[in-house]
Amino acid sequence: MDKKRTQWGSNFGFIMSAIGSAVGLGNIWAFPFKMGQNGGFAFLIVYVILAVFVGLMIMVSELAIGRRTKLGVLGAYQKISKRFGWIGWLAVLSPLILLSFYCVLGGYCVEYMCYNLSEVAFGVGAGAADAGETIFSNMLSNQLGALIFALIFLGMCVIIVKNGIKGGIEKFNKIGMPALFVMLIIIIIRAVTLPGASEGIKFMLEPNLEPLKNDFIGVISTAGCQMFLSLSLAMGAMVTYGSYLGNKENIVKSAGTIIFADTLVAVLAGFAVLPAAFALNGSEAVLSGPKLLFITLQDVFNQMGFVGPIFGVIFYLLVIIAAVSSAISLLEVIATMIIDKREAKNKPVDRVKITAYICIPVVFLMAIVAIDGLGANGMWTPFSKSVGIIGSFNDCWLDFFDTLAEGILMPIGGLLMAIMIGWEYGTENIRDEIMLEGNKFKLYKLYRVCIRFVVPVMMLLILFGQISEIFGLKLL
Ligand code: PFF
Repeated sequence: MDKKRTQWGSNFGFIMSAIGSAVGLGNIWAFPFKMGQNGGFAFLIVYVILAVFVGLMIMVSELAIGRRTKLGVLGAYQKISKRFGWIGWLAVLSPLILLSFYCVLGGYCVEYMCYNLSEVAFGVGAGAADAGETIFSNMLSNQLGALIFALIFLGMCVIIVKNGIKGGIEKFNKIGMPALFVMLIIIIIRAVTLPGASEGIKFMLEPNLEPLKNDFIGVISTAGCQMFLSLSLAMGAMVTYGSYLGNKENIVKSAGTIIFADTLVAVLAGFAVLPAAFALNGSEAVLSGPKLLFITLQDVFNQMGFVGPIFGVIFYLLVIIAAVSSAISLLEVIATMIIDKREAKNKPVDRVKITAYICIPVVFLMAIVAIDGLGANGMWTPFSKSVGIIGSFNDCWLDFFDTLAEGILMPIGGLLMAIMIGWEYGTENIRDEIMLEGNKFKLYKLYRVCIRFVVPVMMLLILFGQISEIFGLKLL
């Protein structure tokens, strides 16, 4: 008997959840710096072009495949393709890896929020103007603490995911996303009124064509990789969320909204973090990655006097919400896959148990990253030259996992998916799904050309860029 699949409670709930998946650490600590470093406004234009001609096409495809098959990523790919069904496994493996270090980073954010909260309570004591560096290195070498807080972060995600799509994920995001937006605006207002703030805005926005002229492939690859990570593509998240979508929903419009909101938050995040970072020590400050968040910005809060820790609490809470809303989508990819497999075999489905079982490998991988402390604790690490967006500490386990998931598996997954849809499954099937219940697909011709030609070529470029960077080659 066909069991009816759960659906999102409302279109708003679905959109907020998908935006929640997209808005994450990638927006806050990677995008603003990548933009400033790779041509400012010129980079934004490259990014938007890629987001429209590659990102939108892939997102539309993922949502449509999910809705059409009503299955999570593994089942969905296996159902629509004989030759490429196995790429569903890539889309299960990458979220597992990403989730493991996302939890450690999320745990760090919880630690920082607590730190600032304690300063609100007990006064700005340890908060000397340059205490950021000391706090950060103390945190990294405190391995048990890192593990405990990573577990707390994972625990929060489990509590949400065990309650299901409507009662857990949708409920969290419907409140979390608007709250995140309000907090972001509060932080921006404070940041842009700091003395010297305009330098940060200039760094991010000033158009500069030099990087594009000097290393065109490098810039495309950076923008493409950032776009993939930021839009949560090729990780099964959008297929999974799409599988709970009702037939009435307009997939193209939803994908457009998600991409617009994600890009808006990424640019706004720049207005929140870069002016503050520049106000502190100009271009000397660390402007990206964990160090931006945990050293530079903490120093900024420490220098603000009494109100500093209050802004600190708001800021780290904002980052925690962004991280949780992304991490739950990663967890859900795996949960849905297992639930679907069990339902197909008519086995009982216990979401709580399933979510708990997924935690076993996650905790294992997470423990390695937490104990390694971003390379601070002298652990042996496999070869690692970070090309990821999230990490930036070469030679640490986080960067190894990041490079693997985000730098290699994700672009390969995206490339194969485009080939599968464009050349095997057929874009007409995606069109039919999108046009259900009278929805229009005006962009179909463009979509077909993009999926068959533009996306594979771009994915190859991105992949070449990554590989050349990993091995230090200059390909073009
Ligand atoms: N989009 C998230 C970010 O920008 O940090 C990362 C991410 C979450 C990627 C969920 C993929 C995913 F399925």
